[in-house]
Parts: sequence; structure tokens; C-alpha cells
Amino acid sequence: MKRDIISVLDMKNDFEKFVDDGIKLKKNFKTGKKDSSMDRKTLAMIFEKASTRTRVSFETAMTQLGGHAIYLSPRDMQMGRGETIADTGEVLSGMVDAILYRAFKHDNVVELAQNSSISVINGLDNLEHPTQIVADYMTIKEKKGKLKGLKIAYVGDGNNTANSLMLGAGLVGADFWIATPEGYEPPDHFVKAARSLARKHRSELEVTNNYKEAVAGADVIYTDVWVSMGEEQEREKKEKEFKSFQINEKMVSLAKRDYIFMHCLPAHRGLEVTNEVADSKNSVIFQEAENRLHAEKIILKKVIK
Ligand code: CP
Ligand code: NVA
Repeated sequence: MKRDIISVLDMKNDFEKFVDDGIKLKKNFKTGKKDSSMDRKTLAMIFEKASTRTRVSFETAMTQLGGHAIYLSPRDMQMGRGETIADTGEVLSGMVDAILYRAFKHDNVVELAQNSSISVINGLDNLEHPTQIVADYMTIKEKKGKLKGLKIAYVGDGNNTANSLMLGAGLVGADFWIATPEGYEPPDHFVKAARSLARKHRSELEVTNNYKEAVAGADVIYTDVWVSMGEEQEREKKEKEFKSFQINEKMVSLAKRDYIFMHCLPAHRGLEVTNEVADSKNSVIFQEAENRLHAEKIILKKVIK
């Protein structure tokens, strides 16, 4: 049976294995070990929105594993001229080995998966960003040596990255605090799902509007852009409402001394994070970005057989 990765919950039973295996693959790669597990395999990558990391990491991962990736933009595809998602899924299933899809609508990712006999990987949609989260927990584990029992503070918008990160925390048993301005909390059904996972580990999950409480004693401070792709019309309003949620030196002084700063990137320096924090010795943002490459490899190896 094929395996889709649409949500972090699609890695529910082996999420930490993705993380550990991703770290192993990175080590193997750095020591020059050859891996041609994607020999003659092809990944189709549909991007409805811009991307630097997701596109380059998946394409490079396929190349390094001996396979091939095709970048597809709806601007050039028949999908952009009215061919249905279902027909696109059927057609690609007859030619390639898996599909990576970055979409505006989560439902479209689900629809593509339902109409493809090959695996569909969610490369970010309005609700989740699962491939990012594998790289994030790899980074935390590399830096902290463990995941369970750490305090992760996400400060900012309750968006796609936040939802996936919160589910990930529930799966690894990390305490997760999310602080957002009022009205920007993550959707209830994500909070519910993450809470039920946290309960199994006896870990904490707190949703608050008080960023001081969230950041106090944190091992990890994570933020993302205030304005996600597709929300540009809300920029002015959100930039005002999020002002006090900026990750700056005052904010991070509340965390543990050896806290790490994370951001899925792209960062809007001077808005959600200052240069002082993003470029500080506590910042791991570029290691986190590099880990996308190795996270994608483990994801590809788990879904393309
Ligand atoms: N973090 C992330 O997904 O970056 P891109 O939008 O550049 O792919
Ligand atoms: N929340 C951001 C993440 C970008 C990688 C967005 O959706 O634009």
C-alpha cells in the first residue's frame, strides 16, 4: 500500500524514527557513503507557491540518491488551465514514483492523494508543513541530544508550521507552548489532536496569548513569518497586531541560557525576529535549513520503494 505524507500525523507511529534516520543519513552523506536508493526513480514536484528550501532540498535529495526530480508550476501545467487535480493525479501515477505538492488548499493535497496510486507528499499547504517538521526535530535532537522533556516555545502566528510543529511535539513528548496574539491561535482541531498525543507522554501543551509565560525557561524558541504566502492582503493589520511578539534580545533573555533559536525561513528580519537574535550564537536557522536536505531523503526513502 502506498504511504502519503500529508500531515505530521501520517508519521504518527514512527515520527522519531524519521528524525533519527534523517540524522543517520546526514552522517553517512558527510562521510561520503554512497546511497543510490532512488536509482531511476522520479519525483514530480508541483509548486503553486514560491519556494527556496523545499524545492532545492527535494530536488537535490533525489539527485544525491541517484534519482530525478521534475519541477512543475501550475503556470506551465494543464492543471493551471482547468485540467482537474484528479486527472493530474491519475496521469502522473502512470509516469513517476511520487508527487510532492505545495498547495494553497489542504483539500487539494488530499484530493491529489486520493486520485493517485503513488505517494503524495505535502510540501506545505494552508494547514500543515510536515516535511519541515522532520528537519526541525532533527535539528533539536542534534543540538540537545534528546526531545522528550524539552520546553519548546513557538511565538507568533498559529499557522501551518505551528500546527505541524505542535503535532510533532506531541509525538516526541516535548512540552509545547504556543503564544500568539488574540485571534491567531492554532485551529481547535489541531490543538485537540496535539493534546491527546501529549497526554500519552504526560507532556504539556499550552496555548496562550502571553509570550513571556511561553518563553520562560524555554530550550527552544521558534517563530515563523507573520504573513504567510497567500495572506498578503492582511500584512498591514498583522504587522501591527504582532509587533510585541517579535523575537528580540529582551524576549530571549527569558529563555534558558543555552536556548536555541529556530525559524523555518524565509525570515523577515526586523519583523518577527531581529538580526541580533537570528545571527546570534544560539541561532540554528541555517543548520535547520540544511537539515531539510536529509529530512527529504528519509521521507523519500520511506515512501518510494
Ligand atoms: N521553510 C520552507 O519551506 O522554505 P521554502 O518556502 O523556501 O521552501
Ligand atoms: N508559514 C509560512 C511558511 C513558509 C515556509 C508560509 O506559509 O508562507
